[in-house]
Amino acid sequence: MSDFQLACPADEVPEGGMQLVELDERLVILFHVDGQYYCLDDVCTHDGGPLSDGELLGCEIACPRHGAKFDVRNGEALTMPATQATAAHEVKLDGGNIYVKINDD
Ligand code: FES
Repeated sequence: MSDFQLACPADEVPEGGMQLVELDERLVILFHVDGQYYCLDDVCTHDGGPLSDGELLGCEIACPRHGAKFDVRNGEALTMPATQATAAHEVKLDGGNIYVKINDD
């Protein structure tokens, strides 16, 4: 079972932006949208594309390979060719730092 671990200082993730970090040998993306922070696996569920190379528009990240879009707030797949959500991880802010609890399910 994983617990919250330090991901990075919050000021490294600008509003409307994202930051790739490695936690437990797993690449995850931190997003900062509308004043909230979110975290998803850096993996498109269609064919493993790196979402961190995609374009973030509002709450949606587009896979750079075939264009599937995911909701950064919960990992839900919004458009084809992806049909399954990518893993979303719990995030908390403490002392100006972002902490993430990896979702192992
Ligand atoms: S690998 Fe992401 S849309 Fe195909």
